[in-house]
Amino acid sequence: MLTMNKIDPIALDAQHVLQVYRRAAVVFESGHGCELFDSTGLRYLDLLSGIGVASLGHGHPGLARALGDQASALLHTSNLYHHPLQSDVASRLAALSGLPRAFFCNSGAEAVEACLKFSRRFWHTAGTPRSEFVAFDHAFHGRTLGALSVTWDDHYRAPFAPLVPGVTFVSANDPAGLDAAVTEKTAAIIVEPIQGEGGVRPIPPATAKAIAAACARTGALLIADEVQCGCGRTGRPFYSDAIGLTPDLMALGKALGAGVPIGAALFSDRVAAAAKPGDHGTTYGGNLLACRAALVFLEELTTGGLMDHVAKVGAHLERGLRAIASRQPAIKEVRGAGVMWGVDLDRPAAAVVDAALQRRLLINRTSETVIRLLPPYVITEREIDEALPLLESAISSVVGHS
Ligand SMILES: Cc1ncc(COP(=O)(O)O)c(C=O)c1O
Repeated sequence: MLTMNKIDPIALDAQHVLQVYRRAAVVFESGHGCELFDSTGLRYLDLLSGIGVASLGHGHPGLARALGDQASALLHTSNLYHHPLQSDVASRLAALSGLPRAFFCNSGAEAVEACLKFSRRFWHTAGTPRSEFVAFDHAFHGRTLGALSVTWDDHYRAPFAPLVPGVTFVSANDPAGLDAAVTEKTAAIIVEPIQGEGGVRPIPPATAKAIAAACARTGALLIADEVQCGCGRTGRPFYSDAIGLTPDLMALGKALGAGVPIGAALFSDRVAAAAKPGDHGTTYGGNLLACRAALVFLEELTTGGLMDHVAKVGAHLERGLRAIASRQPAIKEVRGAGVMWGVDLDRPAAAVVDAALQRRLLINRTSETVIRLLPPYVITEREIDEALPLLESAISSVVGHS
């Protein structure tokens, strides 16, 4: 049994953990479904799921049992050998996405990194090397140097310059600008079908059309970053499909492991054909524990009916948010799909997040003015009905209307 350190974990964090997070002063020790319990036993309603990760909610009995069984049987053997679970996850992802091959890693950023690398690999193998990428304003693709290079916000980028050269950013509201930016030097366009960290912004239909046209015109590959909006979060397997995009590469993470770290890059046959043994790899990628979690999640999502549940409760959540917006003039826009929503305010949203925490409701802020909701997929209409008045009261307490 692990001996817990008796010192206050918040004080110990301040002394010994790299101070790159602005954590709220709350210590969570257990959870059940959409509920979290802090170290004093207080109950919180979780509408954030660890930033889009705890898709099956907390303390999911089937997941806990599977992970316990897996820990007893075998946890890790490396990618030097086969195990029975990785190819199973890959084939299920192929069936869901239409992209037949997967590379497994441990995070969303690594999945993006693999997509960037294998875009270049494709063109290198073709004998006509291309190294450039086109990305979007407000894009967020992760913190590794490659993923950061296609991430838009200067606040993330500036301290780590110089980044990978050859990236052009275009506005998602400027299809003509996109068309002009994509050339025969472009290895790939990278897009989040719904931008997450950038403010829950779905890619407009005209821009999606322009992306497909630019790829067809120049041969540029298309990378869909579905780390946040994919894997059923919008009530459909992947949101690329909803906006009429057919990616050559796809980055996944977050919800896929339901809390166990896993990322995956998916590839079309022609991109995968360029990969050679030794090109890429990672020690932990797709180990037995992570794959077991992904299998439990994928089984729930498809045969367990979870995707249909998301579509149903998502519609309920949307109705509730739009009703709040109709009463609250400080809300400029409500955007999203399924269980991924942004509520855009006419002012900074940080104080609303704090007010919600005081009401023991977990949400967060993104892109300065946007309140973001990413609840566990298993959230019920009853829990949504409990959460929405808390959210409305948190907003009113800050803006003074309603
Ligand atoms: C769209 C998108 N891509 C990539 C990432 C990076 O994922 P990770 O934090 O797991 O590295 C994120 C994280 O928020 C994301 O939202």
